[in-house]
Amino acid sequence: MDETTKKQPSADAKSALIAQNCSVIRAEATADELQTIHKIDVLASEQDISLSFLKELLSLPKNNAVKYLHAKARQAVENVYGDKIFLRGLVEITSFCRNNCNYCGIRRSNRTLERYRMTPETIMACCQDGYKYGMRTFVLQGGEDMWWTDERLGDLVSQIRAEYPDCAITLSMGERPRESYQRLFDLGANRYLLRHETADEQHYHYLHPEEMSFQNRMQCLQWLKEIGYQVGCGFMVGSPGQTPETIFKDLQFIRSFRPQMVGIGPFVATQHTPFADEPNGSVETTLRLLSTIRLLHPHVLLPSTTALGSLHPLGRELGILAGANVLMPNLSPVENRELYNIYDNKICLGDGIDHCYDCLSARMESTSRRIVVERGDFVG
Ligand code: 5AD
Ligand code: FES
Repeated sequence: MDETTKKQPSADAKSALIAQNCSVIRAEATADELQTIHKIDVLASEQDISLSFLKELLSLPKNNAVKYLHAKARQAVENVYGDKIFLRGLVEITSFCRNNCNYCGIRRSNRTLERYRMTPETIMACCQDGYKYGMRTFVLQGGEDMWWTDERLGDLVSQIRAEYPDCAITLSMGERPRESYQRLFDLGANRYLLRHETADEQHYHYLHPEEMSFQNRMQCLQWLKEIGYQVGCGFMVGSPGQTPETIFKDLQFIRSFRPQMVGIGPFVATQHTPFADEPNGSVETTLRLLSTIRLLHPHVLLPSTTALGSLHPLGRELGILAGANVLMPNLSPVENRELYNIYDNKICLGDGIDHCYDCLSARMESTSRRIVVERGDFVG
Protein backbone atom coordinates (compact mmCIF):
# COMPACT_ATOMS: atom_id res chain seq x y z
CA MET A 1 0.00 0.00 0.00
CA ASP A 2 1.42 3.41 -0.78
CA GLU A 3 1.42 6.41 1.56
CA THR A 4 -1.74 7.94 0.13
CA THR A 5 -3.93 4.86 0.41
CA LYS A 6 -2.64 3.59 3.74
CA LYS A 7 -5.35 4.01 6.34
CA GLN A 8 -4.23 6.53 8.94
CA PRO A 9 -6.28 7.60 11.92
CA SER A 10 -7.36 11.23 11.47
CA ALA A 11 -5.50 13.91 13.43
CA ASP A 12 -8.58 14.35 15.65
CA ALA A 13 -8.76 10.63 16.35
CA LYS A 14 -5.06 10.62 17.20
CA SER A 15 -5.30 13.46 19.70
CA ALA A 16 -8.32 11.76 21.23
CA LEU A 17 -6.15 8.66 21.63
CA ILE A 18 -3.44 10.68 23.30
CA ALA A 19 -5.96 12.37 25.60
CA GLN A 20 -7.23 8.92 26.47
CA ASN A 21 -3.67 7.93 27.07
CA CYS A 22 -3.47 10.58 29.82
CA SER A 23 -6.61 9.24 31.50
CA VAL A 24 -5.45 5.63 31.18
CA ILE A 25 -2.18 6.55 32.87
CA ARG A 26 -4.09 8.38 35.59
CA ALA A 27 -6.29 5.34 36.17
CA GLU A 28 -3.23 3.15 36.66
CA ALA A 29 -1.35 5.56 38.91
CA THR A 30 -0.67 5.06 42.62
CA ALA A 31 -1.66 7.71 45.16
CA ASP A 32 1.88 9.14 45.16
CA GLU A 33 1.99 9.23 41.40
CA LEU A 34 -1.39 10.98 41.35
CA GLN A 35 0.00 13.75 43.53
CA THR A 36 2.77 14.35 41.02
CA ILE A 37 0.28 14.10 38.15
CA HIS A 38 -1.78 16.82 39.77
CA LYS A 39 1.29 19.06 39.92
CA ILE A 40 1.99 18.33 36.22
CA ASP A 41 -1.56 19.51 35.42
CA VAL A 42 -0.91 22.72 37.35
CA LEU A 43 2.40 23.19 35.51
CA ALA A 44 0.55 22.79 32.20
CA SER A 45 -2.27 25.16 33.04
CA GLU A 46 -0.12 27.86 34.68
CA GLN A 47 2.82 27.40 32.31
CA ASP A 48 5.14 27.82 35.24
CA ILE A 49 7.28 25.59 37.46
CA SER A 50 8.87 25.93 40.90
CA LEU A 51 12.43 24.90 41.66
CA SER A 52 11.21 22.27 44.09
CA PHE A 53 8.89 20.67 41.53
CA LEU A 54 11.63 20.75 38.90
CA LYS A 55 13.87 18.86 41.34
CA GLU A 56 11.06 16.38 41.95
CA LEU A 57 10.53 15.81 38.20
CA LEU A 58 14.23 15.28 37.60
CA SER A 59 14.65 12.81 40.44
CA LEU A 60 11.52 10.65 39.97
CA PRO A 61 12.03 7.01 39.06
CA LYS A 62 10.54 6.16 35.63
CA ASN A 63 6.95 5.77 36.76
CA ASN A 64 3.41 6.62 35.69
CA ALA A 65 3.91 10.29 36.54
CA VAL A 66 6.81 10.47 34.06
CA LYS A 67 4.66 8.72 31.44
CA TYR A 68 1.95 11.27 32.14
CA LEU A 69 4.41 14.16 31.74
CA HIS A 70 5.32 12.93 28.24
CA ALA A 71 1.69 12.22 27.28
CA LYS A 72 0.62 15.67 28.43
CA ALA A 73 3.46 17.26 26.42
CA ARG A 74 2.40 15.32 23.30
CA GLN A 75 -1.12 16.54 23.80
CA ALA A 76 0.15 20.13 24.10
CA VAL A 77 2.18 19.99 20.89
CA GLU A 78 -0.63 18.31 18.95
CA ASN A 79 -3.06 21.02 20.06
CA VAL A 80 -0.89 23.58 18.27
CA TYR A 81 0.83 21.73 15.41
CA GLY A 82 -1.33 18.61 15.00
CA ASP A 83 0.58 15.47 14.09
CA LYS A 84 3.13 17.31 11.96
CA ILE A 85 6.86 16.91 12.23
CA PHE A 86 8.92 19.59 10.47
CA LEU A 87 12.24 18.93 8.80
CA ARG A 88 15.18 21.32 8.81
CA GLY A 89 18.00 20.51 6.41
CA LEU A 90 21.28 21.15 8.20
CA VAL A 91 24.31 22.30 6.21
CA GLU A 92 27.50 22.52 8.26
CA ILE A 93 29.18 25.18 6.16
CA THR A 94 32.45 25.60 8.07
CA SER A 95 34.35 23.87 10.84
CA PHE A 96 36.70 26.80 11.45
CA CYS A 97 35.98 28.50 14.75
CA ARG A 98 37.62 31.42 16.55
CA ASN A 99 36.13 30.33 19.87
CA ASN A 100 37.37 27.87 22.41
CA CYS A 101 34.30 26.56 24.24
CA ASN A 102 35.34 23.94 26.75
CA TYR A 103 32.79 21.36 25.56
CA CYS A 104 33.07 21.69 21.81
CA GLY A 105 35.12 19.48 19.49
CA ILE A 106 35.67 22.22 16.90
CA ARG A 107 37.18 24.66 19.47
CA ARG A 108 40.17 26.48 18.04
CA SER A 109 42.70 24.77 20.32
CA ASN A 110 41.82 21.37 18.88
CA ARG A 111 44.77 21.12 16.54
CA THR A 112 44.05 17.48 15.73
CA LEU A 113 41.08 18.44 13.59
CA GLU A 114 41.42 19.01 9.85
CA ARG A 115 39.25 22.05 9.08
CA TYR A 116 37.04 22.65 6.06
CA ARG A 117 34.95 25.40 4.59
CA MET A 118 32.33 24.56 1.97
CA THR A 119 32.14 26.55 -1.23
CA PRO A 120 28.89 28.36 -2.04
CA GLU A 121 28.43 25.89 -4.92
CA THR A 122 28.58 22.92 -2.54
CA ILE A 123 26.15 24.63 -0.16
CA MET A 124 23.71 25.30 -3.00
CA ALA A 125 23.98 21.65 -4.04
CA CYS A 126 23.11 20.61 -0.44
CA CYS A 127 20.02 22.84 -0.54
CA GLN A 128 19.01 21.31 -3.85
CA ASP A 129 19.27 17.82 -2.36
CA GLY A 130 17.27 18.88 0.67
CA TYR A 131 14.56 20.50 -1.41
CA LYS A 132 14.16 17.27 -3.38
CA TYR A 133 13.50 15.46 -0.12
CA GLY A 134 10.83 17.92 0.98
CA MET A 135 12.87 20.24 3.14
CA ARG A 136 11.57 23.81 3.20
CA THR A 137 14.01 25.14 5.79
CA PHE A 138 17.77 25.23 5.35
CA VAL A 139 19.95 25.72 8.40
CA LEU A 140 23.41 27.09 7.68
CA GLN A 141 25.52 26.24 10.69
CA GLY A 142 29.17 26.71 11.43
CA GLY A 143 31.84 27.75 13.85
CA GLU A 144 32.53 31.46 14.29
CA ASP A 145 34.56 31.68 11.11
CA MET A 146 35.72 35.18 10.15
CA TRP A 147 36.09 34.14 6.52
CA TRP A 148 32.29 34.27 6.35
CA THR A 149 32.11 38.05 6.27
CA ASP A 150 28.77 39.81 5.91
CA GLU A 151 29.56 40.18 2.24
CA ARG A 152 30.13 36.47 1.64
CA LEU A 153 27.37 35.20 3.90
CA GLY A 154 25.05 37.88 2.52
CA ASP A 155 25.72 36.73 -1.05
CA LEU A 156 24.95 33.17 -0.05
CA VAL A 157 21.72 34.14 1.72
CA SER A 158 20.64 36.20 -1.31
CA GLN A 159 21.32 33.31 -3.64
CA ILE A 160 19.32 30.85 -1.55
CA ARG A 161 16.52 33.39 -1.13
CA ALA A 162 16.34 33.89 -4.91
CA GLU A 163 16.38 30.18 -5.76
CA TYR A 164 14.07 29.04 -2.97
CA PRO A 165 11.52 31.78 -2.34
CA ASP A 166 9.25 29.28 -0.58
CA CYS A 167 11.88 28.19 1.97
CA ALA A 168 12.97 29.54 5.33
CA ILE A 169 16.66 30.32 5.80
CA THR A 170 17.99 29.71 9.29
CA LEU A 171 21.45 30.87 10.31
CA SER A 172 23.45 29.37 13.14
CA MET A 173 26.79 31.15 12.89
CA GLY A 174 27.32 32.37 16.43
CA GLU A 175 27.82 35.86 17.80
CA ARG A 176 28.04 38.70 15.29
CA PRO A 177 27.56 42.48 15.47
CA ARG A 178 24.00 43.78 15.37
CA GLU A 179 24.55 45.35 11.94
CA SER A 180 25.59 41.99 10.58
CA TYR A 181 22.41 40.29 11.86
CA GLN A 182 20.38 43.15 10.38
CA ARG A 183 22.07 42.94 6.99
CA LEU A 184 21.55 39.17 6.73
CA PHE A 185 17.93 39.56 7.76
CA ASP A 186 17.39 42.24 5.11
CA LEU A 187 18.84 39.88 2.51
CA GLY A 188 16.34 37.16 3.34
CA ALA A 189 17.41 35.17 6.42
CA ASN A 190 14.36 34.41 8.59
CA ARG A 191 15.55 32.54 11.63
CA TYR A 192 18.63 32.37 13.87
CA LEU A 193 19.76 29.67 16.26
CA LEU A 194 22.06 30.77 19.07
CA ARG A 195 21.93 28.56 22.12
CA HIS A 196 22.34 30.58 25.28
CA GLU A 197 24.13 27.47 26.71
CA THR A 198 23.21 28.36 30.30
CA ALA A 199 21.30 31.23 31.88
CA ASP A 200 23.56 31.20 34.95
CA GLU A 201 26.48 33.57 34.55
CA GLN A 202 28.88 31.61 36.74
CA HIS A 203 28.05 28.39 34.95
CA TYR A 204 28.55 30.19 31.63
CA HIS A 205 32.09 31.04 32.69
CA TYR A 206 32.74 27.45 33.68
CA LEU A 207 31.74 26.28 30.19
CA HIS A 208 33.59 28.97 28.27
CA PRO A 209 37.03 30.59 28.21
CA GLU A 210 37.49 33.92 29.90
CA GLU A 211 37.29 35.97 26.72
CA MET A 212 33.69 34.92 26.10
CA SER A 213 30.98 37.05 27.61
CA PHE A 214 27.62 36.00 28.99
CA GLN A 215 26.33 39.56 28.51
CA ASN A 216 27.22 39.55 24.83
CA ARG A 217 25.50 36.21 24.29
CA MET A 218 22.31 37.53 25.84
CA GLN A 219 22.67 40.81 23.97
CA CYS A 220 22.93 38.96 20.65
CA LEU A 221 19.73 37.03 21.40
CA GLN A 222 17.96 40.29 22.20
CA TRP A 223 19.17 41.95 18.98
CA LEU A 224 18.07 38.99 16.89
CA LYS A 225 14.62 39.20 18.36
CA GLU A 226 14.38 42.98 17.93
CA ILE A 227 15.42 42.68 14.28
CA GLY A 228 12.56 40.27 13.66
CA TYR A 229 14.19 36.87 13.35
CA GLN A 230 12.43 33.79 14.67
CA VAL A 231 14.99 33.03 17.37
CA GLY A 232 16.16 29.77 18.91
CA CYS A 233 18.02 29.56 22.20
CA GLY A 234 18.89 26.40 24.11
CA PHE A 235 21.32 24.47 26.24
CA MET A 236 22.99 21.11 26.73
CA VAL A 237 21.55 18.75 29.32
CA GLY A 238 24.14 17.42 31.76
CA SER A 239 26.90 19.84 30.84
CA PRO A 240 29.66 19.94 33.48
CA GLY A 241 28.68 22.20 36.36
CA GLN A 242 24.97 22.10 35.54
CA THR A 243 22.65 21.78 38.56
CA PRO A 244 18.86 21.83 39.03
CA GLU A 245 19.33 25.49 39.98
CA THR A 246 21.01 26.37 36.67
CA ILE A 247 18.37 24.41 34.75
CA PHE A 248 15.71 26.32 36.66
CA LYS A 249 17.29 29.56 35.44
CA ASP A 250 17.28 28.19 31.87
CA LEU A 251 13.56 27.47 32.14
CA GLN A 252 12.85 30.91 33.59
CA PHE A 253 14.87 32.47 30.80
CA ILE A 254 12.84 30.55 28.20
CA ARG A 255 9.61 31.66 29.89
CA SER A 256 10.57 35.31 29.79
CA PHE A 257 12.42 35.45 26.46
CA ARG A 258 9.74 33.42 24.66
CA PRO A 259 11.93 32.18 21.81
CA GLN A 260 10.27 30.61 18.77
CA MET A 261 12.65 27.65 18.98
CA VAL A 262 14.52 25.88 21.75
CA GLY A 263 17.33 23.40 21.08
CA ILE A 264 18.27 21.03 23.86
CA GLY A 265 20.27 17.83 23.70
CA PRO A 266 22.46 15.83 26.04
CA PHE A 267 26.07 16.91 26.57
CA VAL A 268 28.41 14.41 24.90
CA ALA A 269 31.95 14.21 26.29
CA THR A 270 34.31 14.86 23.39
CA GLN A 271 37.97 14.06 22.92
CA HIS A 272 40.53 16.87 22.66
CA THR A 273 38.39 19.16 24.81
CA PRO A 274 38.85 20.07 28.50
CA PHE A 275 35.65 18.11 29.24
CA ALA A 276 36.77 14.91 27.50
CA ASP A 277 36.59 12.85 30.71
CA GLU A 278 33.31 14.21 32.05
CA PRO A 279 30.23 11.96 32.08
CA ASN A 280 27.71 12.30 29.24
CA GLY A 281 24.37 13.98 29.88
CA SER A 282 21.38 11.77 30.58
CA VAL A 283 18.89 10.85 27.86
CA GLU A 284 16.16 10.43 30.48
CA THR A 285 16.72 13.93 31.89
CA THR A 286 16.71 15.37 28.38
CA LEU A 287 13.32 13.76 27.69
CA ARG A 288 11.84 15.12 30.91
CA LEU A 289 13.12 18.60 30.09
CA LEU A 290 11.76 18.44 26.54
CA SER A 291 8.31 17.72 27.99
CA THR A 292 8.68 20.41 30.64
CA ILE A 293 9.67 23.02 28.04
CA ARG A 294 6.74 21.97 25.85
CA LEU A 295 4.33 22.50 28.75
CA LEU A 296 5.86 25.84 29.75
CA HIS A 297 5.81 27.16 26.18
CA PRO A 298 3.37 25.05 24.13
CA HIS A 299 3.94 26.84 20.80
CA VAL A 300 7.72 26.48 20.73
CA LEU A 301 9.41 24.59 17.87
CA LEU A 302 11.41 21.89 19.59
CA PRO A 303 13.84 19.59 17.77
CA SER A 304 14.52 16.02 18.73
CA THR A 305 18.25 16.41 18.35
CA THR A 306 20.95 14.34 16.72
CA ALA A 307 22.79 14.35 20.07
CA LEU A 308 19.79 12.54 21.59
CA GLY A 309 19.90 10.02 18.74
CA SER A 310 23.64 9.62 19.27
CA LEU A 311 23.29 8.59 22.93
CA HIS A 312 20.28 6.29 22.51
CA PRO A 313 19.34 4.10 19.55
CA LEU A 314 15.74 5.36 19.72
CA GLY A 315 16.65 8.82 21.01
CA ARG A 316 14.95 10.80 18.25
CA GLU A 317 11.71 8.80 18.46
CA LEU A 318 11.68 9.23 22.23
CA GLY A 319 12.23 12.96 21.83
CA ILE A 320 9.21 13.20 19.53
CA LEU A 321 7.15 11.17 22.01
CA ALA A 322 8.22 13.58 24.75
CA GLY A 323 6.87 16.64 22.91
CA ALA A 324 9.44 17.58 20.25
CA ASN A 325 8.17 18.38 16.73
CA VAL A 326 11.24 19.06 14.59
CA LEU A 327 13.98 16.88 13.08
CA MET A 328 17.21 18.20 11.60
CA PRO A 329 18.69 15.76 9.10
CA ASN A 330 22.18 16.51 7.86
CA LEU A 331 22.58 17.65 4.25
CA SER A 332 26.36 18.12 4.43
CA PRO A 333 28.44 16.03 2.00
CA VAL A 334 29.45 12.81 3.72
CA GLU A 335 33.17 13.64 3.38
CA ASN A 336 32.74 16.77 5.56
CA ARG A 337 30.73 15.22 8.33
CA GLU A 338 33.47 13.53 10.29
CA LEU A 339 35.34 16.84 10.33
CA TYR A 340 32.38 18.71 11.83
CA ASN A 341 32.98 16.93 15.04
CA ILE A 342 31.36 19.14 17.68
CA TYR A 343 30.84 15.99 19.74
CA ASP A 344 31.94 12.35 19.54
CA ASN A 345 29.98 9.33 18.29
CA LYS A 346 27.63 11.41 16.18
CA ILE A 347 25.19 9.28 14.20
CA CYS A 348 24.61 9.33 10.42
CA LEU A 349 28.23 10.25 9.64
CA GLY A 350 28.33 7.97 6.61
CA ASP A 351 24.71 8.36 5.53
CA GLY A 352 23.55 10.59 2.70
CA ILE A 353 20.20 12.35 2.83
CA ASP A 354 18.55 9.58 0.76
CA HIS A 355 19.34 7.09 3.51
CA CYS A 356 18.55 9.46 6.40
CA TYR A 357 15.25 10.51 4.88
CA ASP A 358 14.02 6.91 4.59
CA CYS A 359 15.38 6.07 8.01
CA LEU A 360 13.68 9.02 9.68
CA SER A 361 10.35 8.40 7.92
CA ALA A 362 10.39 4.78 9.08
CA ARG A 363 11.33 5.81 12.62
CA MET A 364 8.53 8.35 12.81
CA GLU A 365 5.91 5.71 11.93
CA SER A 366 6.31 4.35 15.44
CA THR A 367 5.37 7.73 16.90
CA SER A 368 2.08 8.03 14.97
CA ARG A 369 3.19 11.44 13.74
CA ARG A 370 4.17 12.34 10.18
CA ILE A 371 6.88 14.29 8.43
CA VAL A 372 5.42 17.10 6.32
CA VAL A 373 6.69 19.20 3.42
CA GLU A 374 6.30 22.66 4.97
CA ARG A 375 8.38 25.58 6.20
CA GLY A 376 7.05 24.93 9.67
CA ASP A 377 6.96 28.51 10.93
CA PHE A 378 6.23 29.32 14.54
CA VAL A 379 2.52 29.53 15.24
CA GLY A 380 2.10 32.50 17.60
N1 5AD B 1 27.83 17.77 23.36
C1 5AD B 1 26.57 18.13 23.04
N2 5AD B 1 26.27 19.28 22.42
C2 5AD B 1 27.29 20.08 22.08
N3 5AD B 1 27.31 21.27 21.47
C3 5AD B 1 28.60 21.67 21.36
N4 5AD B 1 29.42 20.75 21.90
C4 5AD B 1 28.63 19.75 22.35
C5 5AD B 1 28.88 18.54 23.04
N5 5AD B 1 30.11 18.15 23.36
C6 5AD B 1 26.11 22.02 21.16
C7 5AD B 1 26.19 23.42 21.75
C8 5AD B 1 26.14 24.32 20.53
C9 5AD B 1 25.49 23.45 19.50
C10 5AD B 1 25.77 23.83 18.09
O1 5AD B 1 25.98 22.16 19.77
O2 5AD B 1 25.06 23.67 22.60
O3 5AD B 1 25.43 25.51 20.73
FE1 FES C 1 20.55 9.13 9.34
FE2 FES C 1 18.98 7.29 10.49
S1 FES C 1 18.62 9.37 10.23
S2 FES C 1 20.86 6.99 9.44
